[in-house]
Amino acid sequence: MTTEDALLSCRDRFPILESTNYLISNSLGAMPRDVEQSLAEYARVWASRGVRAWEETWWTMVADLGDLVAPLIGAGPGEVVFQPTVTLAHAVVFSAFDFRSGRRRIVTDAMHFPSVLYLLDGLRPEGAEIVVVPSDDGVSVDTGRLIEAIDETTAFVNVSHVLFKSAYIHDVAAIAARAREVGALTIIDGYQSVGTIPVDVDAAGLDVYIGGCLKWLCGGPGAAFLWVRPELRNRLAPRLTGWMSHARPFAFETTLDRRPDAWRFLHGTPSIPSLYAARPGLEIIRDIGINAIRAKSMRQTAMLLRLADSLGLNCTTPRDPGRRGGTVAFDTPHGYEVSRTLKSREILCDFRPGAGVRLSPHFYTRDDDLIEAVHTMASILEDGSWALHGRSSSPVT
Ligand SMILES: Cc1ncc(COP(=O)(O)O)c(C=O)c1O
Repeated sequence: MTTEDALLSCRDRFPILESTNYLISNSLGAMPRDVEQSLAEYARVWASRGVRAWEETWWTMVADLGDLVAPLIGAGPGEVVFQPTVTLAHAVVFSAFDFRSGRRRIVTDAMHFPSVLYLLDGLRPEGAEIVVVPSDDGVSVDTGRLIEAIDETTAFVNVSHVLFKSAYIHDVAAIAARAREVGALTIIDGYQSVGTIPVDVDAAGLDVYIGGCLKWLCGGPGAAFLWVRPELRNRLAPRLTGWMSHARPFAFETTLDRRPDAWRFLHGTPSIPSLYAARPGLEIIRDIGINAIRAKSMRQTAMLLRLADSLGLNCTTPRDPGRRGGTVAFDTPHGYEVSRTLKSREILCDFRPGAGVRLSPHFYTRDDDLIEAVHTMASILEDGSWALHGRSSSPVT
């Protein structure tokens, strides 16, 4: 059996693959069958153990699950803690900076996820100067321009490792090297990277790495995570904080004595059901291994590009495999309608303005799934059936 056959042998662990061509793992990874059992276990523990669940299992789950994420980003045990969302994890870290008495500049780029750009914008009244490096082509951001924007007044750089629209992989090591030279920190949003490309926070010289399980880690909503370089922790005292970061949370003291470890970045009660839901996906990906996932992803995204070329469809995705993450965006006419038509035919994908129809193979995708999706896309454009699937009132596309 080849490695890829072995990856396909786990298809029966994902119920939705029986009925759909699932090409949307950049948005919501397929649910592992074991999630049902895991959530049932959550209910059983709550029902039978009641409040004792906290001391027996629930209290440490934010860190126990973090230990499953740590090897995926090159971090050590105890260094990753769970957070409810990627946006909130950023807000926690950002709240540790004082832009009035400290460095003022923050460097980011126009291709960063909007939610985080909104947060950064909100730091202006606190004295932050936000430098948003533009993209020339709507696909990538020039590393040289980012590096040029980082100077001695820079507090931190914050970009996505893999850009959500185009799947362009930033050269985060080069960015971090410049940041370190001038004493600035590098805070990376890895939501589109962890689970599809290998990450090594140490080798890349990063300071903070944030990601989540919803997409490539097949873990469902409410399970994001945060890593802060251990030597840096005690320099950061987030104002967005709470009782879980206290060294003695059950003493209920009125002043905060922050823990020195990764728990320092926690705040309120974690979303325990989300952690139960996230575990099976993390275990499957641990067992498969990220290098096998990346090798297959590079082969299948290249295959998508070849299929597009052969049918005259335009793709905005980087051609350089070293700069290409797990998604291929097809910039077709009527992209939104095409994506809705594909969905109506059980080919699940999404559409983003400025990117196009996005197809994201994952370790469970067959080559035939890709052939079917791209040929169907071409025929929808050719026969005009996209016109039957106009904009609906649904806010979720
Ligand atoms: C790169 C990136 N960052 C942040 C987010 C938002 O994450 P959350 O909804 O967990 O705050 C997304 C969601 O798609 C994303 O792709």
